[in-house]
Amino acid sequence: MTPANQYESLLHLEDVYVRYTDHQGKIFTVLNDIDLKVSPGEFITVVGPSGCGKSTLLRLILGAEKPAEGTVLFEDQPIASPDRDRGIVFQKYSLFPHLTVLENLVFGLDMEEFTLPGRIFNPFRFRREIREYKDRAREYLKRVGLEEHEDKYPHQLSGGMRQRVAIAQSLIMRPKILLMDEPFGALDYSTRQDMQVFILEQWYETRMTIFFVTHDLEEAVFLGTRAIILTQYYTTDTPQTEGSKIVTDIPLPGSHPKSTDFKYSEEMGQLVEKLRKDGLEPEHCRHIQDFDLSHKDSFRTVSREEWRH
Ligand SMILES: Nc1ncnc2c1ncn2[C@@H]1O[C@H](COP(=O)(O)OP(=O)(O)OP(=O)(O)O)[C@@H](O)[C@H]1O
Ligand SMILES: [Mg+2]
Repeated sequence: MTPANQYESLLHLEDVYVRYTDHQGKIFTVLNDIDLKVSPGEFITVVGPSGCGKSTLLRLILGAEKPAEGTVLFEDQPIASPDRDRGIVFQKYSLFPHLTVLENLVFGLDMEEFTLPGRIFNPFRFRREIREYKDRAREYLKRVGLEEHEDKYPHQLSGGMRQRVAIAQSLIMRPKILLMDEPFGALDYSTRQDMQVFILEQWYETRMTIFFVTHDLEEAVFLGTRAIILTQYYTTDTPQTEGSKIVTDIPLPGSHPKSTDFKYSEEMGQLVEKLRKDGLEPEHCRHIQDFDLSHKDSFRTVSREEWRH
């Protein structure tokens, strides 16, 4: 029995399938029977080959995508559409180019709480709230080290600064889960290293749950408390399988926040190699019974056709 306002799990996906139609009108499966349970506070890194469905998985959690089959629950309730509990940061284009840094941050708060009739019928309250939003936005800009840049437009900022604004824009909504889709993928090497330390600091301070998709395996091992591989490279007892499954779901070592020294440790090298082999090598297909699902929250459902023994 769970007490009031408590939930069994923050996020719970079970038997989830996503299917799309290709340009010839043929239906194909992208996500094949995804089972995933997430506890609050975890930093989950997701890796897998290009096109395996990582962004699709994030869209499902955001509520921008519906599964063809299966359940997607957030705090035990079905996810109907995107809302402020789940924020998302993309590699690029998370900011409105015609708004200043400060306005970009205020925009979400404003949208959330003020409808057009609210502005017209209660202009004084609207102005007061805008002032308060700006104060809150400045607080977050300070937090991401951009308090000097509030009047600049996105094109006047470096790539790293833009991503800091995008992260601040999400954080200000105080989401319970922050979804990040290759957020540092377009940054140069050294900015990327700085941003990794930066996101760990933010995670450590807020203790929110982060889902972080990346192509960079070192980044995945360095940042996460838990790593997931989503891939189409696996086998089952069914001769023809289609779509990606979670083939690896493991806890990652290292106390948090991790020191950058961890990047140069032997353990780091071994884990990166394991992720590479188990997720990215087409010729290394493990059978469903050999998936590495050692994370404590990990679970899997299988069908008789997939696993006959
Ligand atoms: N709306 C859609 N309609 C049809 N096919 C789609 C749609 N969205 C995604 N796909 C296809 O689904 C597959 C998974 O796409 P997705 O973007 O989730 O992969 P990804 O793992 O994020 O790839 P990448 O690493 O390149 O970002 C791809 O084959 C893609 O072409
Ligand atoms: Mg993607």
